[in-house]
Amino acid sequence: MSRLVLGTAAFGPYAGQPALQPWEIIPLLRAAADAGIRWIDTAPSYGGAEEAIGAALAYRFPNEFLVATKVAADADYLTVRASVRRSLAQLRRERLDLVYVHNATTRVRSSPALDALRRAHDRGQVGRIGATVYTEAEALAAIEADLNVIQVPYHLLDRRMRATVFEAARHAGVTVYVRSVWARGLLTPRLIGDDRFPVEAFADAERIRFRLWTTWEQLPDVALQFALHDDRVAGALIGVRTPQELDQAVQAATRRLPWWRAALAATWRQNSDPKAWDPRTWGA
Ligand SMILES: NC(=O)c1ccc[n+]([C@@H]2O[C@H](COP(=O)([O-])OP(=O)(O)OC[C@H]3O[C@@H](n4cnc5c(N)ncnc54)[C@H](OP(=O)(O)O)[C@@H]3O)[C@@H](O)[C@H]2O)c1
Repeated sequence: MSRLVLGTAAFGPYAGQPALQPWEIIPLLRAAADAGIRWIDTAPSYGGAEEAIGAALAYRFPNEFLVATKVAADADYLTVRASVRRSLAQLRRERLDLVYVHNATTRVRSSPALDALRRAHDRGQVGRIGATVYTEAEALAAIEADLNVIQVPYHLLDRRMRATVFEAARHAGVTVYVRSVWARGLLTPRLIGDDRFPVEAFADAERIRFRLWTTWEQLPDVALQFALHDDRVAGALIGVRTPQELDQAVQAATRRLPWWRAALAATWRQNSDPKAWDPRTWGA
């Protein structure tokens, strides 16, 4: 089974591009299924992605995929209960395989959202429960709250989670998925001419590319191999919109990051303030 997870944030309208249409989603899911990808990551906030995926799964892929979706971290109990019901209906499933508290805070343990997900689990509507987070403190809080899965940002320019989180998760038996392995496109040729990225982030991307002896065309492959290099990582989300991008990722994931590149990446120190490449501070 593949360690890749199909991310779907860009299935809805994204960075000036229109939402994917069913005739674009179905070939993408076909290519993912053929490559052994089993997990799809979505959310009610991804601009109609849940509904489009639900239709495609019901129509063409009834048994091929497991689906992870999300509930808002700051929602109250009844709102989360309604969100779970809506996701079940939109995804056309009887059970949600994995539901994350979306952008969970350090207070996740006592949140009404988690309480509502645990009750939904007891009712059989939800399988595993997780949290998606941005910071180490939030990741550690999710591990302490006894969740099954965490989803964290991790890429060549952002290796914070490696310091404590991966080991704490392994120790606690919590599954770790990493996302933003291409820093939302910053670590791909797509960054050229994309004014969402601040100049400092662009400069860091150029420096890491140069240090790892790679071209812009090969950088997405190297970045993905870096994300999968750590065996404590169960899998990596890939934000792709075409079967061609997906195939490139699948091919890259079959090869391990060479030891010398791993060593060069591990000793790289960024120049700029980490906030420069925090996607929450970037444009849409
Ligand atoms: N808080 C959360 O829960 C949260 C936050 C962020 C993301 N996520 C999840 O993680 C998934 C992926 O993360 P992400 O959105 O941060 O993005 P990402 O996977 O780091 O990067 C996606 C970007 O990379 C580009 N790309 C991919 N392959 C390429 C290639 N071969 N050549 C050139 N460009 C390429 C894509 O271009 P195109 O647009 O042209 O395809 C897209 O702009 C999302 O879809 C979502 O499911 C969750």
